[in-house]
Formats: sequence, C-alpha cells, structure tokens
Amino acid sequence: MNEKTKEMMEKAREQEQSMEGTVKSCPFRTRFHIMPPVGWINDPNGLCQFQGIFHAYFQYSPLSVNGGGGFWGHCVSQDLLHWEYKEPVLTTDIPEDAGGVYSGSALVEDGRLYLFYTGNVKLPGDYDYIDAGRISTQILVESPDGQHMSQKEKVLEMKDYPADITQHVRDPKVWKEEGRYHMVLGARRRAWKEDGERRDEGGVLVYSSADMHSWSLEREIFPKQYFGYMWECPDIFSLGEGEEERKILSFSPQGLAHEKERFQNRYQSGWGFLSGGRPEETFTEWDMGFDFYAPQTFQAEDGRRILIGWAGVPDTQEEHANLSVKNGWQHCLTLPRELTLERGRVIQRPVREIFGLPWRKEDPSGGEPFRWSSRAVRLDIRDISGGSAGVLLGTPGNGLAIQADRDTVTLSYINEEGEPSACGGGRKARTGRLEEPVDRLLILVDSSIAEIFVNGGEMVFTTRLYLEKKERELKIEGSGSVTLETVE
Ligand code: FRU
Repeated sequence: MNEKTKEMMEKAREQEQSMEGTVKSCPFRTRFHIMPPVGWINDPNGLCQFQGIFHAYFQYSPLSVNGGGGFWGHCVSQDLLHWEYKEPVLTTDIPEDAGGVYSGSALVEDGRLYLFYTGNVKLPGDYDYIDAGRISTQILVESPDGQHMSQKEKVLEMKDYPADITQHVRDPKVWKEEGRYHMVLGARRRAWKEDGERRDEGGVLVYSSADMHSWSLEREIFPKQYFGYMWECPDIFSLGEGEEERKILSFSPQGLAHEKERFQNRYQSGWGFLSGGRPEETFTEWDMGFDFYAPQTFQAEDGRRILIGWAGVPDTQEEHANLSVKNGWQHCLTLPRELTLERGRVIQRPVREIFGLPWRKEDPSGGEPFRWSSRAVRLDIRDISGGSAGVLLGTPGNGLAIQADRDTVTLSYINEEGEPSACGGGRKARTGRLEEPVDRLLILVDSSIAEIFVNGGEMVFTTRLYLEKKERELKIEGSGSVTLETVE
C-alpha cells in the first residue's frame, strides 16, 4: 500500500462515515440489493464465491454521487441477499490507473483469488480519447482473502492490442478452460462506412495464457455488420450440459439504433450464442426494463451460473433522475439471477435463496389497494394465459403500471394526467414482446426497485421506482390467480 492508496482509502472512509446518517435515513434504501455505502455505484466486478463466501466488488464513487469512479467497492454474503460492506479493495494509486480502476473480473484457483481490471488513463489535453489521449492497461492483483491485494501487475498494454483497435480496450473477464487461461476484452475498432464516413465497430478480443502473466491474442470477434461502436463488459461462459451445451457471449453494445420494442434504452446489454453462428445474430437483451447494464456472471461452488447487473444505464442523467441523490447515494445492482438453457433459450430466475426468506401471505382482495411499507413484496400472477393482467405499484397519480396483454408486457410511469410520474424520475414506458403469450408475472419489489420475471424467466424487466413510504400501494386487475407475499 503506497501513500496514495492510504490517502484515497482514508477519503472514502471519511465520506462513508460523515454521510452515514443521511444515507441510512433515505426511504429508498433497499433490503436485498447491493448499493453504494455512499455516493455512486455502477458495474458489478469480480463476482465470485471464494472459500464458501460470495464476494461482489463494484465500480464505486464514494466521493461523488454523480460517479467518476476511483474505487472497487467490496461486499460479502453467505446467501447472495444479505450483504456486508467492507473497505474498498482497489483505488487509483499507480500511473496506469490514474483515471480509474475500471471494470474486471475474478478467478479463484488453489485457495487464492486473482482480480483482473482495466487501468484507465485520460491524459490532460485536447484529445478525442478514442484515437489519442487514452491509455488502457489490463492489470492483475492477487489476494489470499478477497480483501488484501498484492502489488499491481500490468499484463497487457497498448502495444499488445491489434493496430486497428482504438484506445478503448477494457473490462477483462477471465476464465480457465482446458488448462489455459482466457481473457475477453471489450473493444472499439476503427472503421469507415462505404461513403467514407468514420463509424467505429464494437467487438471483443480474446487473449490466452498458460500462467496468467503473459498473454497472447487468440481470437477477435467482430460482427459481420455494424452492431454498435463499442462493446463493453464482455463475458464468455457455457450453459446447458452434454450435447445441449452452448457457449454464450454476453456484452453491452453502445450505439444501436432504438426500435419500438427493442433497444429502447440509451445503451443495451444482451447475449448471443458463440457456437453455431455469429453472436449478434442471436443477440437477445438481458432485460427490457429501464435500468439494466453491464452484467457479469460467475459460477457458484454448487455449479449454478449466476448473473448480476447494474440497475442503471450510463449517460442518462439528462433523461431521468434518481431521487435518492438528495440523500447522497445513487443506483444499485440487480438481484442475482440463475441462468439456465431451456429449449434453446436462456432463462433467468431470481436466485432460489430469495424464496427461502420468511415470506408472509397477504390478502390482496377486498377492493381497497394493498398497502406495503419498506419491505420486500413478492407478487405472483399465474394462468394469465394470454389474457391480460395489470398491476399498479403506487397511486394513479404517481405509480408504475405493469400491464400484460397477450404476448406483450409494458411498464409505464405515465399517470392519469398523461404525465410521467414523479416516482419514475422522468422515465416513461418500455415494452417487451415475447415469443409466446404471457402466462405468468413474478414481480419482486424491494423498496425502490422492481424486477419482473415473465413466463418463468423468459423475459425480465428491471426498473427503479421512487415511492415515498406513504405512497406504497398496490392494485391488481385482470385474469390470473394471484399470490401476494411480503417479508420484512
Ligand atoms: C460500463 C463501463 C465499463 C468501464 C466502467 C467504468 O458501465 O463504462 O466499460 O470499465 O463502466 O466505470
């Protein structure tokens, strides 16, 4: 630990302590979701289960509620639901990461934890930070306990990337396969349209290594046709067993054109099959809600493939606001989700641990809206069978309407007056269309976040929802059999 490390960690600690009361008094603090102790959170990093304990690291800006980075925050859990916050484990303390300890991943081997991340540098000056002015270095640290880190070791630097790649190369996800280590990196390649206009292409670089220290380029995966100018936070993993096993590439492309029922957010995140075709051809968004980006997966010791995303999207400050900012914090991560491959599709279910909580049955009937306080709500509507079902979280003047009609689900913050409700912070509506009629909606609400799993996890919607405690009502309409439960 050098002087810079000590100084940065001290600043983080002071900020966490001085803001603790303000943050804790916020009505929007969640119960089971990973949040910043103070300030801003974005991508989940270094997800793993190490010596039986779940570790989640994250992009963390304790010093500014509007981001800017500076740290990898750290929390641990026994059950993926109750998280204990620790000191940050990485900060900007060497020249190669002066502009940020960017996203990365964990690898557990022989009782040790290895973390890979991108050191980002933006040189002061008049640069475009695409072709000039940016330095992206991939860095390795090692830890015996998940908390104390070794010296930082540079494993890939600018001279190691292909010549046609811009200075945007980041977010290493590392895994071991057939005795070798592999690293996938998000990249932006210089490219031009037919008319000569510059239009860069997103893709990934795959490196491999025998020892984690020296890496060589193994493969580049770029789409046949333009599919965004940059792919962030890539991840490669397998789902399914035996002959069914398929390799999947998850990535977060930037620069896709909006469509009515796809790509509705500023930037996207999705997956595509790597085997038997090109990943962009089967690209499927992970989540159709307002708040989802930069997910990462890991394998639990029991073999489950678990995904956690950031319940936020970059560069949306002008479109909508998060009402927790006045209490000094912003954003959270999603509930962990179990991934499976079923009938050729990736299915996402909330981790089974959530169903083990002491849920209490409630009676939603009786005409009056059901009132819920700051606690988790689990609403399960089954046998909709392509009819319709509607749920209003909040009040008609200030709420989120979730509507299932035949094969679509729509989330809308538009209120009775036709205006976006305050509880959406400026958000309007999102729609997802399924391959089959909607039969089931599982809605999990945790204070200020709602996650909606449609048809047993064929489609998911994540959105933040800022209802004051007195506005926490819930009304259900339409066909389907309803189970409503709450937990403190
Ligand atoms: C995605 C991202 C990553 C980067 C990190 C920096 O949200 O832009 O590509 O590593 O955030 O915080």
